[in-house]
Amino acid sequence: SNDFTILGIETSCDDTGCAVIDGAGNVLGESLYSQNAIHVRYGGVNPFIAHELHREHIETAVTEALSTAKIKIKDIDAVAVTVKPGLLLSLQVGVQYAKYICMEYNKPIIPVHHMEAHALVARIYHNLPFPFIVLLISGGHCLLCLVQDVNQFFLLGESLDNAPGEILDKVARRMKLKNIKEYSQLAGGKAVEEAAKKANNSQQFQFPLPLNRNRDCNFSFSGLKDSLVRKLIKKEKEHGITGDCLIPEYNDLCASFQIALAEHLGHRLERAIIFCEEKNLINPNNKNIVVSGGVACNDFIFKSMQFVAGKSGYSCYRPPPKVCTDNGIMIAWNGVEKLKKSYQIQYDLPLSEIDPI
Ligand code: KG4
Ligand code: ZN
Repeated sequence: SNDFTILGIETSCDDTGCAVIDGAGNVLGESLYSQNAIHVRYGGVNPFIAHELHREHIETAVTEALSTAKIKIKDIDAVAVTVKPGLLLSLQVGVQYAKYICMEYNKPIIPVHHMEAHALVARIYHNLPFPFIVLLISGGHCLLCLVQDVNQFFLLGESLDNAPGEILDKVARRMKLKNIKEYSQLAGGKAVEEAAKKANNSQQFQFPLPLNRNRDCNFSFSGLKDSLVRKLIKKEKEHGITGDCLIPEYNDLCASFQIALAEHLGHRLERAIIFCEEKNLINPNNKNIVVSGGVACNDFIFKSMQFVAGKSGYSCYRPPPKVCTDNGIMIAWNGVEKLKKSYQIQYDLPLSEIDPI
């Protein structure tokens, strides 16, 4: 039966996110306290600041999710909380608060793996029977996975260096996109996407295809970033640009870079499809791919993945943008899926289960 409600708590990185959802996946209430604007000033997530802000927001975030759902803690059936991976200090805030609620109100606690939650949440919005392929691309992660069941994930490949969102954030900063007023409040990847839309010539800059000859499903982005920085320095010299000024070709450079990123991601996705089909891991009547994580918000990149998927007869889906990035809904949904299958329902959570890796 779907007649139960779960409270989900996410604090693995820099977002304090909570949600209350029912067994059918209806989002009854939610809250999100993003620290992004603060960390941007420091050029990345500061774990100590993140810890402080989670502590400051956790109670409000939980209360807000419950009150928007018009439900009391005592009427919740279980609490799902992210236990790994993430920043240790950040994870601890959510887990300790979940433990406190569960102790106080005698509720079961469901430990959630952050990546697994990203991978499964698309099942709220689309009919996605197991197995399906997931491409997870965000500021903190980059991986390809075969999702075989609620608690059965087969890792196909991951990044050997940075995550694509992290690279987009660095590239946006190095190109000084923040100095453009309309982009000053945007995430790096979003600023690059907007600038790319204004390009005159997206073919102007050519990038190498990373891991071109590797037949696996791994990723590498540092070469693309280095290549961009070299092109940028060359142009800055050509134009005699210093200080806060942008190169005149910044729109074209963003567009060329976005294409290069999409080509690399698509190339690896193609490898994952080939691997899964060779090993008979996909149901030929249900060929589905999910793209999720903050970078999946990028329409150009998502459409590129749809194109690659379509060539092999796959459908390609993504959750709504606010569910692609870190949030409490995906944690609550993971709790729903586990409760339905009676996986990992427990009455205590040893702190040793919190795991940064
Ligand atoms: O999933 P997320 O909120 O946090 C984690 O990293 O876990 O993803 C944030 C990342 C940032 O690096 C941001 O630049 C990127 O997602 N991002 C985008 C877009 N919106 C956010 N990247 C490309 N295009 C976008 N529209
Ligand atoms: Zn995430």
